[in-house]
Amino acid sequence: MKFSLNANALRAWDGDVLIIGVLEDKSKSTFKLLEERYGDSITKNLTKQKFTGKSGQIATFHLLQQHSEEATFVVGLGETNSLTIESFRKATSLAVKQSKGTEGKIGVLFPWGNIDKAKEIQAVAEAVRLCLFKDERFKSKTDTQNTPSELEMIGVESIPEISLKNVSSTCAGVELARELVGAPPNQLSPEALATEATQLSKEFNLQLKILEQEECKKEGMGAYLAVAQGSDLKPKFIHLTYKGKGKINRKLAIVGKGLTFDSGGYNLKVGAAQIELMKFDMGGSAAVLGTARAIAEIAPSGVEVHFIIAACENMINGSAVHPGDIVTASNGKTIEINNTDAEGRLTLADALFYASKLKPHSIVDLATLTGACVIALGDEVAGLWSENDELANDLLAAATESGEGLWRMPMQNSYKDGLKSMLADLKNTGPRAGGSITAALFLKEFVEASTPWAHIDIAGTVWADKDKGINPAGATGYGVRTLLKWILINNGKDSTND
Ligand code: BES
Ligand code: MG
Ligand code: ZN
Repeated sequence: MKFSLNANALRAWDGDVLIIGVLEDKSKSTFKLLEERYGDSITKNLTKQKFTGKSGQIATFHLLQQHSEEATFVVGLGETNSLTIESFRKATSLAVKQSKGTEGKIGVLFPWGNIDKAKEIQAVAEAVRLCLFKDERFKSKTDTQNTPSELEMIGVESIPEISLKNVSSTCAGVELARELVGAPPNQLSPEALATEATQLSKEFNLQLKILEQEECKKEGMGAYLAVAQGSDLKPKFIHLTYKGKGKINRKLAIVGKGLTFDSGGYNLKVGAAQIELMKFDMGGSAAVLGTARAIAEIAPSGVEVHFIIAACENMINGSAVHPGDIVTASNGKTIEINNTDAEGRLTLADALFYASKLKPHSIVDLATLTGACVIALGDEVAGLWSENDELANDLLAAATESGEGLWRMPMQNSYKDGLKSMLADLKNTGPRAGGSITAALFLKEFVEASTPWAHIDIAGTVWADKDKGINPAGATGYGVRTLLKWILINNGKDSTND
């Protein structure tokens, strides 16, 4: 989709679909603009429909006289004092969804500049493209429904060029993540993830290292390899590196859980768990690769980012882990696997220790780690654990700006007792209560203590059962926008850890 700005007034606009945002307390001025284009009957019509500009309201007009556009959507943004960037996203996706079936150029006129013009425009442009996303890769016949190919922001003279460039890279990153998560587990194997990383490295000039099983063995990654040993598919440990131009003042590592399928192992998933959805258990790694794609394309200077994925499947065969096995992770700690379904943390143990050895300024991991986090926060909010306030606040700010739900949870160190093992250094699961906290505490054992680290549990947010806002039903691509904002917000910040 092509994005552009159009400094002209509404009355002079030419295109195929119009979306007009209305602030409830400033509706008169927008209605005036509409009248300039369509005559005063439009205001009468809006009044008759009881359209006032309340958030969630929408009025639709088709083929208004003397104009080229097929449809005009007038959409409510609520009151100015409660306006947020999210209001722009919400109103945009509401109108764009109704415009499905139209093609050509969409024009958007919102009351720009009430918050931050560049940010508003970025959010609207992203919302248009992301809410139109449709995954038809696995259909033998694709839907013939038209979609718009061009988007123009009306009444905008200029914003920094970088803002519009970032929109396409960001959306491409989110779409990549959605496609990876949505792909079925017979196609999206650990090897397919490695192939995707290889393609990214070639297309965007990223450094790539893939550790095969033997090399992982040499690294002593006994926890990760234990999970992989029950599958016929070989594990692939993926490490992509982005190096920005100029002096590197910030070195970051992003680690993603990459279980291309989680059957639970011998603690097989039964009952309520939707085992067929456990293809999404690589959602963390999808966010990592989506972010890698976007960062490589945006190419910020002065920052180095390591993208790390310990990819494998959690399956059952004759050599699969027995519940009760004791394994040794690469940092030397021994783990009694009292539940084979708590496999993500085992793979992350070795991936986080590997990331620590790179001595980054901070590490962030994303993982569909616990059902407990879904119970706590639902499917719109991910859980954030970090003992570093600065890192936690930066991530929360990035999430707020991107409109991705994120809530800080406690790293309750006293719960570590729940991970005590009679025989080994620790067990991989504790009691049911507080399950996502003990999972975070388990991970903590594998991160170099002096490195700021944050863990984000995306078990709920990786997937949407229903179409909501900018996310069509299915894979959401959660995390890409937050990670990107976090990397870019922090770009230029002086390192404190050299
Ligand atoms: N991949 C699951 C977590 C999950 C559950 C994600 C539901 C999304 C929806 C993870 O590997 C897992 O099975 N965790 C267990 C841990 C338990 C055995 C301590 C869980 O949450 O049930
Ligand atoms: Mg599991
Ligand atoms: Zn899992």
